Amino acid sequence: MKKDGAGAPGRRASLQEEAERETPATEPMDKAEGLVWQEEDGRATLSLTFTLRNARKASLSKAAKVFESFEAGIHHLETRQARKQKHTTDDLDFFVRCEIHSSDVTHLINSLKKVAEDVKTNGEEPVPWFPKKIQDLDKCHQLITKYEPDLDHDHPGYTDPEYRKRRAFFTDLAFSYRAGDPLPRVEYTAQETATWREVYRKLSSLYPTHACKQYLEALRQLEKCCGYQEDSIPQLQDVSRFLKERTGFQLRPAAGLLSPRDFLASLAFRVFQSTQYIRHSSSPMHSPEPDCCHELLGHVPMLANKEFARFSQAIGLASLGSSDAEIEKLSTLYWFTLEFGLCKENGSIKAYGAGLLSSYGELVYALSDKPEHKPFEPERTAVQPYQDQTFQPVYFVAENFEDATAKLQKYALTIKKPFSLHYDPFTSSVEVLNTAQKIKNVLSQIKEELKNLCLALEKIS
Ligand SMILES: [Fe+2]
Repeated sequence: MKKDGAGAPGRRASLQEEAERETPATEPMDKAEGLVWQEEDGRATLSLTFTLRNARKASLSKAAKVFESFEAGIHHLETRQARKQKHTTDDLDFFVRCEIHSSDVTHLINSLKKVAEDVKTNGEEPVPWFPKKIQDLDKCHQLITKYEPDLDHDHPGYTDPEYRKRRAFFTDLAFSYRAGDPLPRVEYTAQETATWREVYRKLSSLYPTHACKQYLEALRQLEKCCGYQEDSIPQLQDVSRFLKERTGFQLRPAAGLLSPRDFLASLAFRVFQSTQYIRHSSSPMHSPEPDCCHELLGHVPMLANKEFARFSQAIGLASLGSSDAEIEKLSTLYWFTLEFGLCKENGSIKAYGAGLLSSYGELVYALSDKPEHKPFEPERTAVQPYQDQTFQPVYFVAENFEDATAKLQKYALTIKKPFSLHYDPFTSSVEVLNTAQKIKNVLSQIKEELKNLCLALEKIS
C-alpha cells in the first residue's frame, strides 16, 4: 500500500519500467515523427548521414539532384573521408541537415538510398513524442492504474460500491476535459466534506511550526481569497484562477496517478494535473493515491510562489523529449523536491514538499532527528533510492528555491538531447530552436527585455 500523501507521478519499483511501457499519446504517432521536427507550416527539419562512393564522380551530382528535386533547403553540410575500411579515398561520409515538406520525408530518404550507402537519420535514436503546446496536454493523461479502487483489493474503497461509482464519475469528468474548458465544479457530499474537515483540521495544527514561510503565506491568501476552510472543499476552478493570477500556473483535472512522462510534461506549460476526488471516508489520514486533500493542501500553496513555480517548470521543461532513463532521474528529483523537499529557513529546516504537507505522520518524522538530511544536489538526488511504502530514510534540503532552481537548470543542461527548447509564455508553447533565425528571434526578445531592465535600473539609481 502506498503511504499517505504520496501523489508523485508514477512512483514504482522501477519508474523506468513504467516509462518504457508508456504510450506517449492516445493517437498513433507519425512514423516519421522520431526522425523530424514537424513545423507549423508543414515543413520538417531532417538530419541525415550517408556515404557516397566515388563522390568526385557522378554519385555526388545524383545525391544533389535528390535534394534539389524535393526542394530541400540545406541548413548544414559536412563531409569527411569515409571511415569504414571497405571504402576508398574517393568515398565520402556526409552529414546533412535540411528542411523539406513534411510529406516528402519518406520519399526523400528512399530516393537517397538509391544513390548513397548507409543512409541514416537521427531516427536511429528517436526522440520520444512530447507536447509542443498547452492543447497537446489533452493527450497527456495516461494513468497508472495500480491503486484504482476498482482494481486494488487493499484500496479502502474497494468494497464500497458507492465510492467506486463516485470515482467513476470523477474519472469521466477528467477524461472529458479539454484544454481551455472551465474546470468542472463539483458538489461534494456531506461525507466527503467531513473527510476534508478532518484532514484540514489535523494538518493545520502542524503547519505553523513545520511548513516553510512561502507555504504559510500562500495558505493565508487561499483562506482569504479562495474558500480554503474546514467546512467546504475548494473548487479547482477557483484555485486555478488564484494560481494563474500569481504565477501563471493553472490546474487541469486528472483521473488519478499519471505516468511520470505525462505528469512532468504538464509542468513545462505551468499546468498542474490535479485529482478532484477525495480519499475514502474510512481512512481520512491515509490515501494510497493522490486525492484533492493532497493536491489542495500539499501542492497548491507552493505553486502560488514565483520561485517555486519556476523550479517546477524547470523540471517539466527538462523532461520534454528526454529518454526513459532521464525521465527516471527527473522523477526521482521531483520525488525528493516537489513531494518530499525540505528547505532551510532562519537556521532551521522546514517542509515544502506536498507529500509531507499532506501527511501528518511523515511531516513530524521528516523534521525530527530520525531521518538523514542531505543537501540538495541534483546529480546525487537524481539517483538516490526512494521509498514509497513507508517514510523516507533520507530527505534533501534546499538552501532556498532560487539556489535549487539554478542547480536544477545546470543539471538539465547535462541531459543529452539533439535539440534545445524555448518556452513562449505568450502562446504557452515550446519552440524547438533548430534554425539560426529562431535563435536570433529569441535573442532579440531577450535583448529588448534587458534594455528595459537596464533603463529601470537607471531610473531607480
Ligand atoms: Fe503529489
